Amino acid sequence: MDTSLLVIDDLKKHYPARSGFGESKRFVKAVDGVSFSVARDGVFALVGESGCGKSTVARMILKLIDPTGGRVVFNGTDIATLKGDRLKAFRRSVQIVFQDPFASLNPRMRVIDTLGEPLIIHDLVPKNQLRDSVVRLLEHVGLGPEALMKYPHEFSGGQRQRICIARALAVSPELIVADEPLSALDVSIQAQILNLLQDIRRRSGITLVFISHDLNVVQYLSDEVGVMYLGRIVEMAKTEDLFASPKHPYTELLLRSVPKIRTVRAETPLPVGLKEGQADIPSPIDVPPGCPFHPRCAQRFERCDTEVPALIERNGRRVACHLYQ
Ligand SMILES: Nc1ncnc2c1ncn2[C@@H]1O[C@H](COP(=O)(O)OP(=O)(O)O)[C@@H](O)[C@H]1O
Ligand code: SF4
Ligand SMILES: [Mg+2]
Repeated sequence: MDTSLLVIDDLKKHYPARSGFGESKRFVKAVDGVSFSVARDGVFALVGESGCGKSTVARMILKLIDPTGGRVVFNGTDIATLKGDRLKAFRRSVQIVFQDPFASLNPRMRVIDTLGEPLIIHDLVPKNQLRDSVVRLLEHVGLGPEALMKYPHEFSGGQRQRICIARALAVSPELIVADEPLSALDVSIQAQILNLLQDIRRRSGITLVFISHDLNVVQYLSDEVGVMYLGRIVEMAKTEDLFASPKHPYTELLLRSVPKIRTVRAETPLPVGLKEGQADIPSPIDVPPGCPFHPRCAQRFERCDTEVPALIERNGRRVACHLYQ
């Protein structure tokens, strides 16, 4: 039996795309058969360029949208079957932290109300202890009690993201999905928020799905990494193994892209035969035939143009590339 907290099984989300008169119906395959699982207390990083389907996966994990196919299994239950009290409990157990901390905070609510609201909704704290609970939450994310009566605009971007993280923590969730939580922040602040997430995870044992377009930032936080390209996972491995020897040419390309937070990988030489920015990122409406990465891959050979490589496991590594099959 799988004891993972979260199991994603062949998850798909296809949106109808606008098509011209008389044209056959087309679909945006935003997510097209993604599978992975996350151990309790583990950190899984989902990485890929903008538009590859990361947020769509996040929305399906949170049951904000329903999948076209496949399942999200949380604590052994397919979340599609949840209703009533069990759905309410699920909504408490799984929280999200978004990219833009300003857009996700109500500008007219003081911090004490923003953080107190979920405690009241879920009936977690008696009214007379609310203030103390919120002060403790603030402490968790490195903010002092002077923040209590302030409004979002009175904080910096990094502080606002700390408040969003505190709000996610308020209901003691089992899983937090952090969807590019660093992307809207100044480079100098990103490492601080990354450290905060690392701290929280160590202290509270929360399971984390960490989403990023920058592969380099996930190195120190995640246990396992799934690299997404056009709605599919093209490589999945333990973080250590992935960084020590990336297999898929796309993973190599991502590792080569300039990291925002400086890490050891920054000096890695360009892998032989890889031409960066060789072609535009194809759209998930017109996924290229064969290997979806072939228009950008300098290692491509004949078979790549026609045959889709499956994600195959070999020696504990999973790679979707004909070079490894
Ligand atoms: N509601 C929607 N209707 C149609 N297409 C969508 C919708 N949501 C996302 N998409 C498309 O699905 C693809 C994946 O989007 P998204 O999951 O937001 O990617 P990411 O988070 O990796 O940048 C994109 O091409 C996007 O335009
Ligand atoms: S299957 Fe071919 S085109 Fe695709 S990544 Fe591998 S070598 Fe490149
Ligand atoms: Mg996104």
